[in-house]
Amino acid sequence: MENLEINKLFGGIYKNKKVVVTGHTGFKGSWLAMWLKKMGADVYGIALDPPSHPNHIDLLQLEIKSYIQNICDFNKVKEILSEINPDIIFHLAAQPLVRLSYQDPVNTYMTNVMGTVNVLETARSLSNLKAVVIVTSDKCYENKEWLWGYRENEAMGGADPYSSSKGCVELVTTAYRNSFFNPSNTDEENKVLIASARAGNVIGGGDWATDRILTDIVKAASISSSVYLRYPKATRPWQYVLEPLSGYLNLGWKLLLGEKAYAEGWNFGPNTENNISVLNLVMEAKKSWEKISFDFDNTQHPHEAGFLMLDSSKAIKILEWKPVWGLTKTIEKTIFWYKEFYENNNVISCQTLEEYILDAQKKEIRWSKT
Ligand SMILES: NC(=O)c1ccc[n+]([C@@H]2O[C@H](COP(=O)([O-])OP(=O)(O)OC[C@H]3O[C@@H](n4cnc5c(N)ncnc54)[C@H](O)[C@@H]3O)[C@@H](O)[C@H]2O)c1
Repeated sequence: MENLEINKLFGGIYKNKKVVVTGHTGFKGSWLAMWLKKMGADVYGIALDPPSHPNHIDLLQLEIKSYIQNICDFNKVKEILSEINPDIIFHLAAQPLVRLSYQDPVNTYMTNVMGTVNVLETARSLSNLKAVVIVTSDKCYENKEWLWGYRENEAMGGADPYSSSKGCVELVTTAYRNSFFNPSNTDEENKVLIASARAGNVIGGGDWATDRILTDIVKAASISSSVYLRYPKATRPWQYVLEPLSGYLNLGWKLLLGEKAYAEGWNFGPNTENNISVLNLVMEAKKSWEKISFDFDNTQHPHEAGFLMLDSSKAIKILEWKPVWGLTKTIEKTIFWYKEFYENNNVISCQTLEEYILDAQKKEIRWSKT
């Protein structure tokens, strides 16, 4: 890692910055906390206890300050954030599962919508704060089941409670930005820039959440069992976990520099070739781990979107961001992580991050230049 000069990535902006990651005990949050820590940031996390055993955050053993706190408790969230007084907040804490949102819509809306309100409301009173990146989802858009990718200026929607909660989070973010953090208002008091980030279906090592296809198949493979595919034809924009994170960090970099034009919504989706069906994803994964086995579950299930694609032209053009890994590498790296974990008891997250950064540098992606 030393040769990489990792703390110079993203213009070296994160070194010694106080950074809050909400949802740090989860899949994406744990990778983000690790990456920020490697860049020399002072990292604080707010989340519930890790959602599974094993879990990535415990395996990483990062030296960060962790607050186990429900994001729905406004007073506590305010107390913690005021105590930290961060430079930037990456807000990832959420109930992120579509099927669970059918079983528990109230908690899904409370956590996702009111959790975000609590973070943004507190942000109004934090004296050191310069930026907030709110993480939503590709599912925030009104899904028209068409062939084209969704652009940032399209309508919010969502047919199920999870997707609609993420559409609501986008609306809340826009309202807070317009009302209290308006970038066109040059007041000294109004110095916090707020952006939102929408990404696709993320895969990668260290995810043990239930009801996620890749997690389900590797867990089954580890005990030589097979998995039932519920939505084999559903097509998703699969991407390695580090891809959206490089987008969030890229966005945070611009906001921390005070660049007001970046305080809006951004898509960070994969290349078109990564839009494949669940069935094709599993068949590709099987090439990397012969123990993967599956069957079809033909029973009735709640509605999930059939086709969803993001158009990331804006991030590619303006942020000079782009995906690093194509479909084959995305799947290979994911399966390799779990094989190393289950067969050799190795946690290769640091090595994977290093490989990802080196590949980004080979592609001369703007954020990776040191
Ligand atoms: N994983 C994906 O494919 C994907 C795709 C698009 C968007 N997202 C979004 O990315 C973010 C992170 O998702 P993930 O995949 O890491 O999910 P995850 O389930 O692995 O992690 C969720 C995190 O949120 C925390 N959390 C949940 N409820 C909370 C509460 N009431 N109070 C405090 N913390 C709470 C959990 O403790 C955990 O740390 C979410 O906002 C999710 O909607 C994920």
